[in-house]
Amino acid sequence: MPDANPAALDFLLTRRSRPAKTLAPPVPSRDDLIPLLTAAARSPDHGKLEPWRFIVIKGAAFGRLARLVQERGEALGKSPEDIEKGRAQFDQGHLAVAVIEVQKPSDKIPAIEQSYSSGAVCLALLNAALAAGWGANWLSGWPSHDRTFGEDGLGLTDGERIAGFIHIGTERSAPPERPRPDLAQIVDWVDR
Ligand SMILES: Cc1cc2nc3c(=O)[nH]c(=O)nc-3n(C[C@H](O)[C@H](O)[C@H](O)COP(=O)(O)O)c2cc1C
Repeated sequence: MPDANPAALDFLLTRRSRPAKTLAPPVPSRDDLIPLLTAAARSPDHGKLEPWRFIVIKGAAFGRLARLVQERGEALGKSPEDIEKGRAQFDQGHLAVAVIEVQKPSDKIPAIEQSYSSGAVCLALLNAALAAGWGANWLSGWPSHDRTFGEDGLGLTDGERIAGFIHIGTERSAPPERPRPDLAQIVDWVDR
């Protein structure tokens, strides 16, 4: 039999996000975050390109980003409802890590594999935070796909984009379980 890690498997079988709007202080300190970021950076990465980096958002940065969402939403002609939705995670946020996909030039590794690796980093960070006992949630929203928001708000450069905002804090209420996929619908067993 393989050498099992039942606690890790049990975590993976029961883990679930905590909605960002339900997260409150206290949030992880810099020391608390280091092992979580270390775990996230230990993600599959074809070619060892490290096609990602992290920006930890806290304090006054949230207000600055909320104001930028407002400005960008108005410039893009978005409805007040869409602007409100785009702002919410920054109006309500206490600590978030922006996982930044950093496309590295490569003859061997397709760009999409670097994107997959960035998604893997987001999930690894989310899971590390949950495993450490924090509430955590992976959010995007229209601002995360707006080039100007990324450049002006987070200093992104060419080849960089926001893979996700991982909000981390203290959960105030445990959410009910949500329906999970029916394996019979998504698994094919191919043996010939
Ligand atoms: C790439 C990505 C972006 C997401 N963006 C949002 C978002 O902007 N707003 C939202 O309410 N949920 C968003 N979600 C979904 C939340 O993360 C949701 O809480 C999650 O699917 C719950 O999954 P879990 O219970 O398996 O952890 C996003 C999920 C992914 C993978």
